[in-house]
Amino acid sequence: MKTIIGNWKMKVGTRESVALARGVIMTLRGKKTLPEVIICPPFVAFSEVRKVVARSQVQMGAQDVFWEEEGSFTGEISPRMMSELGVNYAIIGHSERRRLLNETDEMINKKIREAKGEGLIPILCVGENKEQRDAGQAFDIVAAQLHEGLTGIKFRDKDKLFLAYEPIWAIGTGQAAFSDDAVEMHSFIRQHLKEILKNNPEVKILYGGSVDGENAYSFLREPEVDGVLVGSASVKLVQFGKIINAAIEVMEGEK
Ligand code: PGA
Repeated sequence: MKTIIGNWKMKVGTRESVALARGVIMTLRGKKTLPEVIICPPFVAFSEVRKVVARSQVQMGAQDVFWEEEGSFTGEISPRMMSELGVNYAIIGHSERRRLLNETDEMINKKIREAKGEGLIPILCVGENKEQRDAGQAFDIVAAQLHEGLTGIKFRDKDKLFLAYEPIWAIGTGQAAFSDDAVEMHSFIRQHLKEILKNNPEVKILYGGSVDGENAYSFLREPEVDGVLVGSASVKLVQFGKIINAAIEVMEGEK
């Protein structure tokens, strides 16, 4: 099953989030084959979006979470609070947070641990920047992010873990990676995780970075690509609908 995640970032308020969520549900209506669809609205919109997606196939994810359960942490939101709102997933370590808010691998590790402890499925984002790719360091950088992000965290065989390979130079730039490069990195990540994780959790590896209605199929048709993490195009319903349809086309072709 392919997975489509919409990361709405700070691009929509509550009213627009509700309208978008309704639109996503309409897009799925009547379809015989359904990909897994996860929407990640801004925190303020969750209570309202929850009402819209209740009893639908659409699931909700947080764009970030804090690493403690509760306490004096002004402005932060804990995984437990998200879980109480019916959230199942948490994006952790997005490159925008690493870059703009100085989020470190150590902080990311603590967030994954806490999210997992509260029953949220972590979506760990990894990826190299342009200089690192040009210098031939992409694989080393991603390997280090995987190691440091996941170190000491125990996953059991039935646990789920999502990885999003998001090359920084492809995010929000309109310049997606080539699907061949994504496939190469995905198989590297899959191999590498076997060394890091002792057990065999259910791992999904998604590609993210300028995915839109036009290029989504080229990623989704690859068996190595379990899905896509979509930013800009996820707040445009027509684009997001095309991405969902591309996943459906691939899934129906696999039957
Ligand atoms: P983009 O963002 O699709 O706008 O490139 C992807 C992301 O940041 O997850």
